[in-house]
Amino acid sequence: MTTEPMRSNEELIGRVDVRDLEAVFATVGHDDPGGHHAVADPCPADFTWDYEKGARPRLDRLYEKAKRAQWNGQTDLPWETEVDQERVVMQNQAANSNGLRWSPEDTAGTALEGWGDKEWLRLGVEYQNWLLSQFMHGEQGALLCTAKIVETVPWIDAKYYAATQVMDEARHVEVFSRYLDEKLSGHYPINAHLGLLLDDIIGDRRWDMTYLGMQIMVEGLALAAFGFIHAVTQEPLLKQMLRYVMADEARHVAFGVVSLQDYYAELSTSELRERQEFAFEAAVRMKDRMMMQEVWERLEVPSQDVITIMKRSPERDEFQILLFSKIVPNLKKLGLLDAADGWLRQKFTEMGAIGFEDLVDTAQEVDAEADGSPAVRHVA
Ligand SMILES: [Fe+2]
Ligand SMILES: [Fe+2]
Repeated sequence: MTTEPMRSNEELIGRVDVRDLEAVFATVGHDDPGGHHAVADPCPADFTWDYEKGARPRLDRLYEKAKRAQWNGQTDLPWETEVDQERVVMQNQAANSNGLRWSPEDTAGTALEGWGDKEWLRLGVEYQNWLLSQFMHGEQGALLCTAKIVETVPWIDAKYYAATQVMDEARHVEVFSRYLDEKLSGHYPINAHLGLLLDDIIGDRRWDMTYLGMQIMVEGLALAAFGFIHAVTQEPLLKQMLRYVMADEARHVAFGVVSLQDYYAELSTSELRERQEFAFEAAVRMKDRMMMQEVWERLEVPSQDVITIMKRSPERDEFQILLFSKIVPNLKKLGLLDAADGWLRQKFTEMGAIGFEDLVDTAQEVDAEADGSPAVRHVA
């Protein structure tokens, strides 16, 4: 079997060098004037006449667990908690958890030169508003993608499970939106790179690409990001909210792994190559989004200055790579790292993320198999 000629970086991600920050900063997200964004969906809806429940036992088991794992975003979280956003940001900065305070050597000669506590605090506050906004938009992406999976996946056990995930994602959008409105100090439009990725996922005609893009890539990254913030934040409402959301997300990623494992075993090398390319493109878009272009624009910091600082301080890059720790093991389990002459292994090696390949995959995570609602399991 011969493999298709590799598509180049330029064809896949619109630039030759993954680390071309000028290109990354050239795309910035703005509000859609009408308040909506439409994406054409070419994927056919699929009726199955095989109603045998449990024909796919692992999906059936996840479905039964998901029914018992529901929680209520309105009544199960301590919304009465008073959140002093500036204090929270100062605590985070003291713990240096987001790395958003550069040294005078790093900022010399840029718009950030001479910044004092007040300016760094403003950056931290804007970053938090931006980050939670991106979580909210990503959750809406998950809501739409999972509704799409209900339509397009050919197996009844997967349609059943996906229906529970639709409910989970509705709850996630709801709680992030409420947190932004009641506890933080502003909203951001969707990051341009995240938006491109969600459009690609929804606009694909192959049903498994929804899973690969959302359950494996976007939700895999979210699981790691929520985990870091949950570990660091001392704000009790956010901490509990993230813990509950993570309990759901672990199940969602497991749903992706379990569904795609069998399907990918049947695909040809050239079909697997297409999946590898899609995963690589998604990984690059997710990494690009971490540059938080929209924050710098709002603070009127020229992107060239940010690029200068980023190049001087590669440790932030290393931190961002940690966010791929939940993705790479799952891609390995799906056989995508090593299919088609190991093309994707090579790409993740270049990105510096291949070291995570032997971490535990999400189908084996405790949360994915946990029984009962986190609200009664008293998860910590
Ligand atoms: Fe979610
Ligand atoms: Fe999810």
